[in-house]
Amino acid sequence: MSYSVAVVGATGAVGSTMIQSLQELNFPVSQLHLLATARSAGSHYRYRDQTVTVQDIENFDFAGVQVALFAGGEIASEKLVPRAQQAGAICIDNSASFRMHANVPLVVPEVNSEALRTHQGIIANPNCSTIQMVAALKPFVDLGLRRVLVSTYQSVSGTGKEAIEELENQTRAWASGQPAPPPRIYPVPIAFNVLPQIGSFGPDGFTGEETKMMEETRKILSLPQLRISATCVRVPVFYGHSESVHIELDRPCSVAQAEERLKTMAGLQVMAAGPTPTPLQAAHQDEVMVGRIRLDPSVENGLQFWVVADNLRKGAASNAVQIACKMLEMKLL
Ligand SMILES: NC(=O)c1ccc[n+]([C@@H]2O[C@H](COP(=O)([O-])OP(=O)(O)OC[C@H]3O[C@@H](n4cnc5c(N)ncnc54)[C@H](OP(=O)(O)O)[C@@H]3O)[C@@H](O)[C@H]2O)c1
Repeated sequence: MSYSVAVVGATGAVGSTMIQSLQELNFPVSQLHLLATARSAGSHYRYRDQTVTVQDIENFDFAGVQVALFAGGEIASEKLVPRAQQAGAICIDNSASFRMHANVPLVVPEVNSEALRTHQGIIANPNCSTIQMVAALKPFVDLGLRRVLVSTYQSVSGTGKEAIEELENQTRAWASGQPAPPPRIYPVPIAFNVLPQIGSFGPDGFTGEETKMMEETRKILSLPQLRISATCVRVPVFYGHSESVHIELDRPCSVAQAEERLKTMAGLQVMAAGPTPTPLQAAHQDEVMVGRIRLDPSVENGLQFWVVADNLRKGAASNAVQIACKMLEMKLL
């Protein structure tokens, strides 16, 4: 059996990676519809041995589409996900629009695939920085995960294709001794800088990205009371988010035991000895890499580690396609 699949936002950083992930993860596609705005309708992408033309979403009818992968941003998802759902498609959405809805499963397949059984036509893909962190937290949940502190170092591809261009242009200007073009995507230059703000500030002083990490982690791990606090930072890296994670457990866990637990997780590469994982290493791969596992001497039963993953792959496109593959395996498609 193979499926009619639509990718909304196919020309973007996530959508174009979805085209690759569908091939690499061997999702059975009978027909592929690539959709974007009128701006990029008519452009072409290779999918296996075919050339597929991008269509304008405005004229698209979702009838007959069985799986719709959304990477067109919040405005597109809010308008089009209900339309696709009504037409009978299973919608896997990358935006934040539906993630915290009670009737929408928020899924990382290795962590909480059972939640897929409750779906009503929409499944949400978590935030990129949340996905890689929960993959590394899951092995500790049965030891009583009491508290999580995380600081992130997030790449510009997390903001989309125009942010990649902005870092490229600023870096090229610096290297050729030219004045930097004025920033458009970020409020200040991102090249050779660090921006401790991702999203807008809420009344509690946390940014949107930080709030997403905290709320989504509680939902995915089914730990509504989990004490968790995040600081999210944008860094001049093209691909791959890095995270410094501190956890406190109810019961003790040695470094060796922590490594063993982490090694039981599918999709996770434990780099206990040798080089520590970096975003350059994680780029263009689906695995989440964990290193620098050590005891946190400042609290009882504390551990700390470093987690890196490609935000466009495991943090977005590949996780969405893995959800579709998991639904196939669970006979939910
Ligand atoms: N980047 C990441 O690491 C990441 C991770 C997790 C989740 N996400 C989420 O994934 C979504 C896409 O992000 P991105 O980084 O890929 O952004 P992007 O590179 O800016 O791409 C946006 C894509 O959406 C299309 N689009 C824009 N407005 C649209 C509309 N009204 N209707 C249909 N398509 C529309 C664009 O088409 P045109 O070419 O026609 O403009 C383009 O294909 C966002 O919701 C984002 O929050 C991103």
